[in-house]
Amino acid sequence: MYDTLIENIGQLILPAEGPLKGDAMKQLEVKENMAIAFEDGKVAWIGPNEEARKLKANERVDAMEKTVTPGLVDPHTHLVFGGSRENELALKQAGVPYLEILQQGGGILSTVEATRAESETHLYEKAKQTLEQMAAHGVTTLEAKSGYGLEREAELKQLRVVKRLNEESLLDLVSTFLGPHAIPPEYKGNEEAFLDDMIRLLPEISEEGLAEFTDIFCETGVFTIEQSRRFMKASQALGFQTKIHADEIDPLGGTELAVSMGAASADHLVAASDEGIDRLAEGDTVAVLLPGTTFYLGKDYYANARKMIDSGAAVALATDFNPGSCVTYNPQMIMSLAALKMKMTPEEIWNSVTVNAAHAIGRGDVAGCLSVGRKADVVLWDVPNYKYIPYHYAANHAKAVWKNGRKVWE
Ligand code: NIG
Ligand code: FE
Repeated sequence: MYDTLIENIGQLILPAEGPLKGDAMKQLEVKENMAIAFEDGKVAWIGPNEEARKLKANERVDAMEKTVTPGLVDPHTHLVFGGSRENELALKQAGVPYLEILQQGGGILSTVEATRAESETHLYEKAKQTLEQMAAHGVTTLEAKSGYGLEREAELKQLRVVKRLNEESLLDLVSTFLGPHAIPPEYKGNEEAFLDDMIRLLPEISEEGLAEFTDIFCETGVFTIEQSRRFMKASQALGFQTKIHADEIDPLGGTELAVSMGAASADHLVAASDEGIDRLAEGDTVAVLLPGTTFYLGKDYYANARKMIDSGAAVALATDFNPGSCVTYNPQMIMSLAALKMKMTPEEIWNSVTVNAAHAIGRGDVAGCLSVGRKADVVLWDVPNYKYIPYHYAANHAKAVWKNGRKVWE
């Protein structure tokens, strides 16, 4: 007797084991008239629909003319923060650039002020509501960064919220320490000292099990390549895996740095050089692309996903959900932007939000694919085929979502 049996599946999407690089990203296994059964939180059986008729299950779900996929993985979010920044819309409309708003003490720094002032309980409650929305949109595993504290207690507060959410919510969260996210006003002109302070937090974060990854915002007016290298080295020396916000606005060479340091991912990459893209193809670093951010910042030029995939890189997609540069937690919208703005094919897009996204956060062995014995992280989509989701944009097509075999949304 299985716990759940989804039968009559119109299309069952089975991404291959990854990480998928280059041409492998262009393949996607699509099976019709299939069924899938869960037991004890795991996928227990996958097979043709005719065989499913004789199986017994406590719950039978009819997926006629619908699509079933692995739960989505969102490998780059700034989940926990205080306040909101709707007042910046007018500045954006007036043409004030993102980095200038930051230089004026707004942007990330205004969220830092709000996050420092917020209680841990309130941050937790707010992030918990966001998680519920993420699950409703098909996300079952996500990464969550700190980076709105920029001082010991406020950074640890954000990380404790992520840890508690991972323990208490049904979703799986992967925690990233992004202490070097901006230069706080009290350290202006004293960036090295601030970076030293963030590096000094690493042992405590490691001992308390508060993060698995570290990240740094490598950008003009924020952290340099040299500072990023120093931070990544210090992180790796303590056993952290690394990530980097790289080449988002200016081509500083963060992509090349990420590959040379063996980073798990390099994120943004809108301004990545040809050289950087070649390095990605040779290395193990996953390129996490965030077209929602490019869209929200009102840019015309998107990350060159075509060149990355065609030259052999492993590409993943993420929302970058945050209160300033991308205010959406709907990966389905990101899938449409990837199709329309970066010319990614539906097959590449599905691989990017499942298997490759899981690899970008060190979860390739447990998330992003469906096979017997894996976690039953599954989405039933109210669409006739997998190409429909990037096509019909800005809607929520998720009809039901299971995490570890438990329904988290319907
Ligand atoms: O990934 N680029 C830096 N960090 C975030 C934005 C954070 C914010 O604006 O609050 C990003 O876009
Ligand atoms: Fe980000």
